[in-house]
Amino acid sequence: MLIRNLPSWVLRESAATDEQVYLNRRNFMRGSSLLIGGAALTLSGQGADAGAAFASDISQSVGTSDFKDLTLDLYPAKRNEAYTIKRPITKEEISSTYNNFYEFGSHKRIAKAAQRMETRPWTITIDGMVEEEMELDIDELIRSMALEERLYRHRCVEAWSMTIPWTGFAFADLVKKAKPLSGAKYIQMETFHKSMWASGQRQTWYPWPYLEGVSMEEATNDLAFLVTGAYGKPAAKQFGAPLRLALPWKYGFKSIKSIVRFTFTDKRPVSFWEQLAPKEYGFWANVNPEVRHPRWSQATERVLGTDETIPTQFYNGYGEQVAHLYKELGKTEILFR
Ligand code: MTE
Repeated sequence: MLIRNLPSWVLRESAATDEQVYLNRRNFMRGSSLLIGGAALTLSGQGADAGAAFASDISQSVGTSDFKDLTLDLYPAKRNEAYTIKRPITKEEISSTYNNFYEFGSHKRIAKAAQRMETRPWTITIDGMVEEEMELDIDELIRSMALEERLYRHRCVEAWSMTIPWTGFAFADLVKKAKPLSGAKYIQMETFHKSMWASGQRQTWYPWPYLEGVSMEEATNDLAFLVTGAYGKPAAKQFGAPLRLALPWKYGFKSIKSIVRFTFTDKRPVSFWEQLAPKEYGFWANVNPEVRHPRWSQATERVLGTDETIPTQFYNGYGEQVAHLYKELGKTEILFR
């Protein structure tokens, strides 16, 4: 497969430091340009301040959208105190202006481009090994679930991290609704495929649509969370509206955005990134500070929005909840693969 314009974490080790420059360097000159993920990107403004200006720019374009979100009254949802953590929440102007969403570009400043996505009407298909295949309207689905807020760590394979207040519902509740057949072992998830919204999907060397998979045990673990909102309101498009996954014990690429399909299957799915770089992005992808990415260390992480670099924890600090799922697997190799 011809692969061009790959993300920093597929192509270049040095790119893992680029966002530090972007977010923390104070003397950044207006109009200077950076190379992120192999694509030239022009930044205007200074670090996080630039993020704030960009965020207000985005909210203006969001305001012009004419769709009606019929779930607005469900926010803010009550926080579930079982899922709080000690780290400070990452400022919204940082987390909403520094995103990975390759459908809209192979760099971090996709927020504005993501506003082209039309998130209503939106249908979720549930198919494969289920009692009955179904198509669900997103607003009806959300209204049928018990929404709550959870504070989750978010650790990207690029060695940066954030803390996000997600709103959503337990993945286990969707599995229950789907009524899987007893032979179903995995759930494959798919993002939309619409190049008229998403210019990245015109780059045909990527294996669109974005695809991810989890085992049934992972999907029904208490931590697996389907996200509909962030920061006390419906999720901004760049976060993966109207429905994304949050699996906080795994590297961020497992947390697929803007999902349109859940397929129950007995075959292990091969994800988007696994198709592109199988030696680097395996199925389990559990956060593991002891296993290097082939081209950089995973021992520490930069906490975005601060000057801190902290040690990375096994399972991103969620071992108590998930380690039992992997007791059959070898510690170093298979946790990541
Ligand atoms: N989902 C889709 N559809 N497309 C993507 O490019 N990027 C993944 C994941 N989900 C991605 C995706 C990666 S690499 C990360 S780190 C997280 O989304 C980033 O989530 P955030 O932008 O909310 O921080």
